[in-house]
Amino acid sequence: MTTLIKEGIYSVGVVDWNERHFHGYTYVTKRGVTYNSYLIIDEKITLIDTVREGFQKELIENIKNVVDPSKIHVIIINHIEPDHSGAFPDILKICPNAKVYGTEKARQGLLKYYGVCGDWVTVKSGQSLNIGKRTLDFIDVPMIHWPDSMFTYSAYDKTLFSNDGFGQHYATNKIFDDEVNFDALMDESQKYYANILWPFNMLVSSKLAAIGKLNLDIKFIAPSHGLIWRKYIPEIMQKYLYWSSHSCKSRVAVIYETMWNSTEKMAKKIIGGITSEGVEAVLFDITKNDRTDIASYMLDAKGWVFGSSTHDGEMLPVIAGFLHFLKGSKAKRRKSFAFGSYGWSGEAVKDIEDTISNVTSFEPSLRVVYSPTQDELDKCFQAGKSFALKIKNE
Ligand code: FEO
Repeated sequence: MTTLIKEGIYSVGVVDWNERHFHGYTYVTKRGVTYNSYLIIDEKITLIDTVREGFQKELIENIKNVVDPSKIHVIIINHIEPDHSGAFPDILKICPNAKVYGTEKARQGLLKYYGVCGDWVTVKSGQSLNIGKRTLDFIDVPMIHWPDSMFTYSAYDKTLFSNDGFGQHYATNKIFDDEVNFDALMDESQKYYANILWPFNMLVSSKLAAIGKLNLDIKFIAPSHGLIWRKYIPEIMQKYLYWSSHSCKSRVAVIYETMWNSTEKMAKKIIGGITSEGVEAVLFDITKNDRTDIASYMLDAKGWVFGSSTHDGEMLPVIAGFLHFLKGSKAKRRKSFAFGSYGWSGEAVKDIEDTISNVTSFEPSLRVVYSPTQDELDKCFQAGKSFALKIKNE
C-alpha cells in the first residue's frame, strides 16, 4: 500500500492480514499485523525501516509507485528485529549507493543476521542528518525493546518515527488513528504494550521523561506497526505514562487450568467471592483464552489469582508456560493467591508461588483433595471476599 501521509512522506509498508502468531507463538494477533515503512522525498530520498522477509517485493513495488528505488540515498534502520529488517538485504541490492544509519548495536545485529550492513554510519542521540529541507534527529532508545532500538524525529514534519514504540498489531488499510474505532485502537495498544514492552517499564518511563525534556513539537507519531497517531497523541502518551509506572486498578484476573473441573469449581466460587465485594474480576480458563488477551487484562490488574490441579507433582503445563511469561514481566505492586485440587501430593500451588514470587506477593493458598465439598466451596467464596477486601483497601 502506498499512501501519501503528508507532504513528501509516503507510507510504503505492507499489511500482513493473516498473521496470527507474532514473535513465534508468544503473541496472538487476532487483527493481523502491519510492517510500516516510510519514504521521504527530499533532496536525499530516505527510507525509514523496511519490512519482514517475504514482503520485500511488495515493499519495492510500493516504493516504485513514488520513485525509482535505486534513487534512495539514505536508509534509516531504527530497529533490526526481522519484522523490520527482513527486507533490508534486498533493498540494499537495489540501492547499493545508499548510506545506512543506525546505532552501533544495529550495525552488529544486521551483520549477524544477514552478513551485510551496507555503507554504514553509526549514529546516537544528539546526532542529526540533513536530507534537504529536513533534518532528521536520532534518539536512541535501548531496550525499547531491543538493544539497537532508536527513534528518528523530523522537526520539519513534526513527526516522530517511533518504530516499535506506540505500535499496535492492527491490520488495516487505514493510516491514521482517527480513521479506526478508538476503543479497538486503544485495546490493541494495551495488548501490544503488555506483550512487548511491559518488562521494560522502567526504561520506557525514563525515556519518555528524557524525550519530554527535548521539547519536541510532535504532531504525528509514526510507528512501524499499526496506525499513525495524530489525533490521540495525548491519550496514547498518557497511557504509556500510566502503564510504565506500574499503575494498577482494583481489579482481579482469576486464571486457572483444570483436569476434572474441581479446580474450576473452586475458581468460580473464588470469583463469586471477589465480585460480591464489588471488585471487578474476570475468569480465564487458560486453555480456552489467548494468553495475549489475558496479559493485556493483567497489565493493570492489582489482583492475580492462579489455580491449577496437580499433575505428576507439578502445576499443569499450559498455566506453567503462562507463568513463565509473567515471570519475565517484571511487574510490581501485585497481590496474588494460588489454589487447586489434587489427588495425593498437591504441589501445584507451591509450584505457582515459587514460579512468580519475583513479580507478586502471595496470600495463603487454598488446596482441596479430589472434588471440593460444600464446606470447601464456601471457603473458596470467603477467600475470594477476603482477597477482594485487600485489593480494595490497599
Ligand atoms: Fe516490531 Fe521489535 O520489532
